[in-house]
Amino acid sequence: MPDMLVRLYALPDQNTILKDGYVVRRAAAYDKSVTLHWIGQHFSTQWAGEADVAFSRQPISCFIALDQERLVGFACYEATCRGYFGPGGVLEVHRGQGLGTVLLLECLRSMREMGYAYAIIGGVGPKDFYAKTVGAIEIPDSTPGIYTTPLVS
Ligand SMILES: CC(C)(COP(=O)(O)OP(=O)(O)OC[C@H]1O[C@@H](n2cnc3c(N)ncnc32)[C@H](O)[C@@H]1OP(=O)(O)O)[C@@H](O)C(=O)NCCC(=O)NCCS
Repeated sequence: MPDMLVRLYALPDQNTILKDGYVVRRAAAYDKSVTLHWIGQHFSTQWAGEADVAFSRQPISCFIALDQERLVGFACYEATCRGYFGPGGVLEVHRGQGLGTVLLLECLRSMREMGYAYAIIGGVGPKDFYAKTVGAIEIPDSTPGIYTTPLVS
C-alpha cells in the first residue's frame, strides 16, 4: 500500500453539501473514549492507536462525522507521523454521501493552516478516491513505507 502526496496549495475551494442530519466537526477531548472504542470496533486496533495520538494534540487533530449525534466516520492528521493524513473511514452504510470528502478536506485545510505545503496520505487503500477528491499522486517506492514492523497481538 503506497503513500500519496497532496498539494495543499491546490485544494478544491468548494465545499460538499451534506445531507440533513449529518454534521462534521473537530473532535473534542470528551469524545476520545467513545471515538477510540468505535474505531477499534469498526476499523482496527491499529487505527484506534493512531487516532489516540491525534487526541493527544491540541487542537485535537481528528474530525468526526455524526448522523443524529451517532458517530459514522472519522479522519485524523498529524497522527501517524508529522505531515501525514490518516487514518480515516466512514461506516459502510453511510458511504457515497460526501462524508469522506468533507472529513478529508477538513483535515487537509487544517494542515495547510499549520503551514504545510504538501501532505502525505499514508498507506493508501482507495487510491482513486484520493486522486479524484484532492488530486493526490502516488509516491514511487513508498510501499511499505513507514509501516514495516506492525505488532501482532
Ligand atoms: C474511502 C472512504 C473514507 C470514502 O468515504 P465516502 O464517504 O464514501 O466518500 P465520498 O462519499 O465523499 O466519495 C467522494 C467520491 O469518491 C468516490 N469514492 C468513494 N470511495 C471510493 C473508493 N474506495 N474508490 C474510488 N472512489 C471512491 C465516490 O464514489 C465519490 O464520487 P462522486 O463524487 O463521483 O460520487 C470510505 O470508502 C471508507 O471508509 N473506506 C474504508 C476505509 C478506508 O479505506 N479508509 C482509507 C484508508 S487510506
